[in-house]
Amino acid sequence: MLELKDLRMVTLCENTTTNPFTLAEWGLSIHIEAGKERILYDTGAGSKGIILHNADVLGVDLTAINEIVLSHGHQDHTGGLKDVLMRTKYLGKNRKVDILCHPQALSEVYVRSPPSTEYWYFGFSHVPSELERFGAVFKTKRDAVWLNDDVVISGEIPMTNDFETVGEVFGIKTSEGIIKDTEMMDEKSLYIKTEKGLVVVLGCAHRGTINTIHDAQQTTGIEDVYMVIGGTHLANVPEYRMTSTIDELKRLKIKRLGVSHCTGQKESARLAVEFGSDIFFFNNVSTVVSHV
Ligand SMILES: [Fe+2]
Ligand SMILES: [Fe+2]
Repeated sequence: MLELKDLRMVTLCENTTTNPFTLAEWGLSIHIEAGKERILYDTGAGSKGIILHNADVLGVDLTAINEIVLSHGHQDHTGGLKDVLMRTKYLGKNRKVDILCHPQALSEVYVRSPPSTEYWYFGFSHVPSELERFGAVFKTKRDAVWLNDDVVISGEIPMTNDFETVGEVFGIKTSEGIIKDTEMMDEKSLYIKTEKGLVVVLGCAHRGTINTIHDAQQTTGIEDVYMVIGGTHLANVPEYRMTSTIDELKRLKIKRLGVSHCTGQKESARLAVEFGSDIFFFNNVSTVVSHV
């Protein structure tokens, strides 16, 4: 089990920031030091080199990362990939970097804004062969991938409850054109086994925050959940989903809840009231999770 003193997470990209010298963008990226592992979980949206700027301001050395994990293919999580790889190539002396993701994360995916039925492109916005020129080594896998004894990237997350759904707004390109994607199979979360219980790192949690936590328990064999951090995809969800999520998080007795990105502002505020400041925190750009 990882000791908490050996875990440090710095949020590099998020919709909001609390550090006046950093920049915000719609998206997510979290740099995770877990023992000897240096993981970049998502890369933000790629606007104007924000991830590089914020990493510099926050003292995160992106040339030292061991791998990049993509939570899913959406642009707001993968857009900064080329910026990061240019840094690892040119400042990291031609380093190769593994890119770990689900194969579907590299697909052409779309989104629409109901009631409009018109889809716009919202998927992976790079040419993989160009990224390979910058040192990317794509390792796509549907199953869970253990980085070491304590850190695992999820496999396909089972949807087992009656209140979490992916929704109706996403589309995926097939030979028959763009069809609705109500599965979002490419979602990958990160689970860390610590002495205090699991740390569950979420990208967008398109397959549901609670489904993901249950998958973390199943995958690791550990019941205690210490922390949930990242995008919980609770923005504008029906009341039944919101109350069911809160009830389950309370039943699990989580110790820290750091929400980001697609959680939604009013939903974040509600969680802040429900869980109180000992448990809840806003996980914005410049938030550092450290226990030293
Ligand atoms: Fe997403
Ligand atoms: Fe997102």
